[in-house]
Amino acid sequence: MGTGRWLGFLLILALSASFAESKYLKYKDSKQPLGARIKDLMKRMTLAEKIGQMTQIERAVASADVVKQYYIGSILSGGGSTPGLRSTASDWVNMVNNYQHGALSTRLGIPMIYGIDAVHGHNTVYNATIFPHNVGLGVTRQDALIIIIDLDPELVKKIGAATALEVRATGIPYVFAPCIAVCRDPRWGRCYESYSEDHSIVQLMTEIITGLQGEIPKNSKKGVPFVDWKKNKVAACAKHYVGDGGTNKGVNEDNTIINKQGLFGIHMPAYLNSIVKGVSTVMISYSSWNGVKMHANHELITNVLKGKLRFRGFVISDYEGIDRITSPPHANYSYSIEQSINAGLDMIMVPDNYNEFIGGLTNLIAKKAISMSRIDDAVKRILRVKFTMGLFENPLADTSLSSKIGCQEHRDLARRAVRESLVLLKNEKIGSGRRMLPLPKKADKILVVGTHADNLGNQCGGWTIEWQGVTGNGLTSGTTILSAVKSAVDSKTQVVFAENPDENFVKNGGFSYALVVVGEQPYAETKGDSQDLTLSEPGPAIIKNTCGVIDCVVVLVTGRPVVIQPYLSSMKALVAAWLPGTEGQGVSDVIFGDYGFTGKLARTWFKTTDQLPMNVGDLHYDPLFPFGYGIETKAI
Ligand SMILES: *[C@@H]1O[C@H](CO)[C@@H](O)[C@H](O)[C@H]1NC(C)=O
Ligand SMILES: *[C@@H]1O[C@H](CO)[C@@H](O)[C@H](O)[C@H]1NC(C)=O
Repeated sequence: MGTGRWLGFLLILALSASFAESKYLKYKDSKQPLGARIKDLMKRMTLAEKIGQMTQIERAVASADVVKQYYIGSILSGGGSTPGLRSTASDWVNMVNNYQHGALSTRLGIPMIYGIDAVHGHNTVYNATIFPHNVGLGVTRQDALIIIIDLDPELVKKIGAATALEVRATGIPYVFAPCIAVCRDPRWGRCYESYSEDHSIVQLMTEIITGLQGEIPKNSKKGVPFVDWKKNKVAACAKHYVGDGGTNKGVNEDNTIINKQGLFGIHMPAYLNSIVKGVSTVMISYSSWNGVKMHANHELITNVLKGKLRFRGFVISDYEGIDRITSPPHANYSYSIEQSINAGLDMIMVPDNYNEFIGGLTNLIAKKAISMSRIDDAVKRILRVKFTMGLFENPLADTSLSSKIGCQEHRDLARRAVRESLVLLKNEKIGSGRRMLPLPKKADKILVVGTHADNLGNQCGGWTIEWQGVTGNGLTSGTTILSAVKSAVDSKTQVVFAENPDENFVKNGGFSYALVVVGEQPYAETKGDSQDLTLSEPGPAIIKNTCGVIDCVVVLVTGRPVVIQPYLSSMKALVAAWLPGTEGQGVSDVIFGDYGFTGKLARTWFKTTDQLPMNVGDLHYDPLFPFGYGIETKAI
């Protein structure tokens, strides 16, 4: 062969070799071990691609082009952020797939991960099943004296599984749940997102993670994330690390003043349970611990969570969480990026100004204010979650699960959860010698009153369709307590509804008894902070005008204990229903005696707010109803 022919031959060899190499990409080979896939992919990535993985943006600012251009690693729906009004499963799937096509069309084709707050069912989605908020689920146990064995984590596990199915039905593989806050003060606007003031109840309720992600294999290494994709599971997120429920006076995002023993004894334990169950991600709290913003806390994020607790998933910020490291927020964004990434955050929920974040992070790396090894740790963790859950093999969703959204099976499960989350706080004998509850289904005429009796939005609370929730009916499908009562009573019983009746109406109506359903208006986060915790008008007036005149049972629809002592003596019976969600029949099932009351308070019910904070185990403990209280009744 002449030189020219040799050269040509070599060229062909070289070309075919590089062609073969580009055809076989180790990281795309699911038969390769996880570590080898991560290593192979990391080796191929540019800095811009790595930074993109660490960037989470809001769907409203996202497009397939943006995802492609900036190598965006994750997109979220913020509270109430949907592709449109009353979007169907296919609207959601199409939207998520559209963004995903942007990610898949990049050089390396790394799939993005879409996340959403599914905190009591898939609560942003029209017609989804809305389960009781966590404050209600915390009381679903049989006997307070034997707390550990008699709690019912099997129920929350089922709720987790149902939620995962509805979330996957919309093409979404990741939820920002569960909230494992230990709410130590009901003045906190997020107290309803907490299962209990008692950390052992919160620890047990982390079983919802197994429902969301699937059962972690026995031989798993501690701290490694796990999601059972084939069983239609989703990645979960334990939040908000750490001490979110312990802020001063319950002020949202404020300072948690507590010593190390207190932090590790009360607020930390449920993170251990979550990590053992393979939780994929942990979200950092807006709050501070003894004056240090958690989003900038290197000791607790890097040394404790990633070090001591061996958490191997990724750590995500809260929404604009790094902005709030400075006061006022966003005063020095470069400082915020530096502090948070160096503290150990892996993914930043930016969520809008991704240019500023990406530019800022790029500069800090160039200035060596943030090391490449820190970036590599972050990206490795994000890729580990994406690989282990199977996102590379299954990046695109379809509509095969759409019938799961709000399906009867899930609504039945939610109805059961409502039944088990009711707590009977008072049940006096009435004239005939029987106790007020259960109510007779057979009566000539009964009265239902109150702002929460025929109001699905009030019944669901915050984080329902909208971030702050919605008052009224028509927000989604479900059954109000009034409709549930109407279908539960005897066909000959006349049910009269008056939202806010005057005394004469009640007195002269010839009613056998009255059911009063009052409570809090929907709220979320800071808007729910309340220093007085009073039942707002017309709640007290409705109680007075009704219970002052005829035998009544009051059902409270609230996210927490509220001031109730002043009205207590006028009521024959009192039920805490918390925020039950869309399945109001769970309430009628129990008040009419088809099922007994079993719930026991997972929160201390105070007499007056000047007692707060007051929690079980406190030296000075003088509650209206103690932690663990709840009258039991039998089904009739
Ligand atoms: C929502 O649920 C209602 C009541 O079950 C049903 O009539 C309606 O068709 C559903 N809408 C969508 C978009 O799924
Ligand atoms: C922002 O923070 C950085 C890093 O601490 C500091 O060097 C810089 O001066 C700050 N900028 C402003 C405007 O305060």
